[in-house]
Amino acid sequence: MADLIIPHLSPGDKVLDVGCGDLRIGEILSKNNINWVGVDTLNYNRSNLEFHTFDGVKLPFNALEFNVVLVAFVFHHCDDCKPLLSECVRVSSRRVILFEDVLNGSSFNRFITNFHDQLVNWIIDKRIYCPCTFKTQDEWFEAFRAHGFNSTFTQHLKTHSLAMVDQQLLVFDR
Ligand SMILES: C[S@@+](CC[C@H](N)C(=O)[O-])C[C@H]1O[C@@H](n2cnc3c(N)ncnc32)[C@H](O)[C@@H]1O
Repeated sequence: MADLIIPHLSPGDKVLDVGCGDLRIGEILSKNNINWVGVDTLNYNRSNLEFHTFDGVKLPFNALEFNVVLVAFVFHHCDDCKPLLSECVRVSSRRVILFEDVLNGSSFNRFITNFHDQLVNWIIDKRIYCPCTFKTQDEWFEAFRAHGFNSTFTQHLKTHSLAMVDQQLLVFDR
């Protein structure tokens, strides 16, 4: 994942990793002259990077305090991601990098995506809340457009043609 993120960062960037988990990605990327800060509702951080817990809605930072905000596989853990998304765009001066399992509109795809998420998070940490509020790509484009952020890059992360969950990297710029 670090390899996918690095082309979208610039040296000296200050990055906020929302829903950072163990912060392993931040540990790798902070070696490239990136100032990395993590926030999460749970604390299973295993790094020495700056880390804060928060209530899952209000980010404890000033407007435009970060160049880039990373939100990797987090929004579908919110019953309604709109308040947290508003906070992410508030604190980002340039870019939001989003990783998400993206729905294609079919109910079979929704079933498989939900099943995959419950299983993966059960393995990561059984405390993680999984309402599986996934969206289609168009819904993500619209959610960010509403805040003046436009899609500038999209990548499907499918590792093989039989992969049934469509994980995507979506980049939005102010
Ligand atoms: C699947 S893990 C992803 C962790 C990390 N971003 C990664 O990609 O390795 C989902 C993370 O989202 C966090 N989370 C859930 N709801 C959240 C919220 N409302 N705000 C911030 N983080 C949240 C969970 O605690 C968990 O660490």
